[in-house]
Amino acid sequence: MDDTRQSVHGQWSGRWAFVFAATGSAVGLGNIWKFPYITGENGGGAFVLIYLACIAVIGIPIMMAEILLGRRGRGTPINTMRRLLREAGAHKAWQVVGWMGMLAGFLILSYYSVIAGWALAYVLRMGSGEFVDATPERVGELFAGLLASPGQLLFWHSLFMLMTMLVVARGVEQGLEKAVRFLMPALFVLLLIMVGYAMSMGAFSQAVDFLFSPDFSKITGTGVLIAMGHAFFTLSLGMGAIMIYGAYLPRHTSITQTSIMIAGADTLVALLAGLAIFPIVFANGLEPGAGPGLIFETLPIAFGHMPGGSLFGFLFFLLLVFAAWSSAISLIEPAVTWLVENRNMSRVRACVWAGLATWLLGIGTVLSFNYWSEIKLFGKTFFDLLDFLTANIMLPLGGLLIAIFVAWLLPRLSSQEELAMRSELAYHVWHGLVRYVTPLAVIIVFLNAIGVIG
Ligand code: TRP
Repeated sequence: MDDTRQSVHGQWSGRWAFVFAATGSAVGLGNIWKFPYITGENGGGAFVLIYLACIAVIGIPIMMAEILLGRRGRGTPINTMRRLLREAGAHKAWQVVGWMGMLAGFLILSYYSVIAGWALAYVLRMGSGEFVDATPERVGELFAGLLASPGQLLFWHSLFMLMTMLVVARGVEQGLEKAVRFLMPALFVLLLIMVGYAMSMGAFSQAVDFLFSPDFSKITGTGVLIAMGHAFFTLSLGMGAIMIYGAYLPRHTSITQTSIMIAGADTLVALLAGLAIFPIVFANGLEPGAGPGLIFETLPIAFGHMPGGSLFGFLFFLLLVFAAWSSAISLIEPAVTWLVENRNMSRVRACVWAGLATWLLGIGTVLSFNYWSEIKLFGKTFFDLLDFLTANIMLPLGGLLIAIFVAWLLPRLSSQEELAMRSELAYHVWHGLVRYVTPLAVIIVFLNAIGVIG
């Protein structure tokens, strides 16, 4: 394998730059907003256990597969697949992995940006002291008020898209990656403080019980699908985002170690978020299955009552915005680099087009919380449908294809060379997982969810 093949977009300065960028992509709204609310909707412990199992046996192996493909192909997911399918002697149709990934990233960002907009709105609300001593009812009303206002939602969505495209236009390595290096540890510390506060509130053991004692009677086929989909979503897998980050990875970095670090940090943040939020839910007699508004209806109650709460709340939502920001970038990066590589656009032009299209589609999500809230397809609003289609279908499908490609088509020598594992056994474990366990698991979960089996 030639050492000279490099991405035209540059290379990470080293292993830590990559770990921070990938962790920046992984840790985001998925951990702090989505994980708690889908855990609440799907009954707690059993869901969490299935999610953790998916991270371990599907997520980490697929992350390794994506990084190794990226580093070997050194291009956007579509061009990477194009190069590697030649190496694997595979059919041209495999490029679909790249195409579907680009589409999934674009669809996800369109609603991700609207939710990140909620967090932006809450930075302001926290800072203004709106929640001081607020009752749970008042906090709920304030959130409902935000959702009911398309104007406000659109404003914050637009601001967030603008922020994202600004960073992407300038090239990812410049400012944000540096900022993420100290903002993410700060978010982590703030979460610890929140968990500490939650422990003092009384309902902590009830929350621990809810999160960690599995009751499998509460889980459905769809619940398992959502848990698996979320493992992909939270680790940014199945659409080429990590593949593209892998394309900038220096040759001698260990893919295995970095993957385990990234997945570990991501999981820890999600669990801490759960431990911070559910005590508030139970202590105030709120509903764990309240839906997408869960953190916005619970955390402000705690911030409104703890000493220095307005400041902590302000910082918390600010850091959440940063976490979402560094994730959003990786959602649109494949589309932008593709436009640059294949349509000969300048980076700035590519950003304008990709950003505009995403912003437009996001308006559908904005409206799904008010004017269109009663318009449903399969019982789902526009937002629910987009979320379900991307996280629970497109990402696992992308992961399935990546697994088959890496473990059945790509020559073993290629993956062996990229992973460069010291232990034979470790390589065989990984290969077995990607070759058999991941594809079977994804297929079984799909079939189970549509009711064919189980
Ligand atoms: N992982 C991010 C989160 O948890 C979201 C995200 C960023 C993502 N890039 C992605 C999800 C690529 C799927 C694919 O918030």
